[in-house]
Amino acid sequence: MNINEAIKKRKSIRGYKPDTVSKKTLQNIIEVAIRAPSAMNTQPWELHIVTGEILDKIKKGNIDAFTAGNLPIPDIALKKNYQDIFKMRQVEIGIQLFKLMGIERDDHAKKNKWMQRGFRFFDAPAAIILTYDKILDPAFLSFFDMGGLAHAICLCALEHNLGTCIHGQGIMYPNIIREHVGIPDSKKIFISISIGYPDWEFSANKVESKRESLENIVSWYGFK
Ligand SMILES: Cc1cc2nc3c(=O)[nH]c(=O)nc-3n(C[C@H](O)[C@H](O)[C@H](O)COP(=O)(O)O)c2cc1C
Repeated sequence: MNINEAIKKRKSIRGYKPDTVSKKTLQNIIEVAIRAPSAMNTQPWELHIVTGEILDKIKKGNIDAFTAGNLPIPDIALKKNYQDIFKMRQVEIGIQLFKLMGIERDDHAKKNKWMQRGFRFFDAPAAIILTYDKILDPAFLSFFDMGGLAHAICLCALEHNLGTCIHGQGIMYPNIIREHVGIPDSKKIFISISIGYPDWEFSANKVESKRESLENIVSWYGFK
């Protein structure tokens, strides 16, 4: 697969087959993906790769916390309310996903079920949790680096017919991750990536996220 094809083919996968992903395959993906660039080659990332019983326990812990109404306190503060064009883009993808999943605007029960899916890592058989050392805070450049790594992981996964979804939902309750994976408080839990073989029959996997046209986001200088 060439690079253009891979970048265009990658999309967020929110429904997976139950088939497990081998450690060897994941190792292969990570070995390539960590060629991602980082500021001054600091390589701020640490990867915690979880499957089987441990992932099941995290999924259950997340669901229990969510259904108990526990306030999510992620290690990285989230922006709560997007505005203007950013809000419009957020709403557009949400409407598309809800339509595909048959969720009506006021159907709180179905919305709740959809939220739970995210807390269950979209039922993926494996997940990659990225952390960085607190010593790097304020970690703006490290955030940039980890974004590059996350994208590289998603692209390398395609080589193995695997799908991915980068998501904040799985790590909304960092205490639960810490309970089941030995991540000390000195490390910040940054993001999670669900990974597995896509279930192409799952409606939400038919989502086609849009991108802004170049004329709205690119300025050209000095070109004839
Ligand atoms: C930092 C980050 C956090 C995300 N968090 C979530 C999430 O919590 N739930 C979710 O369904 N998708 C999440 N996504 C996936 C985005 O919604 C998705 O990348 C975007 O809509 C574009 O769609 P595409 O990945 O299919 O191209 C996240 C993506 C990124 C990069």
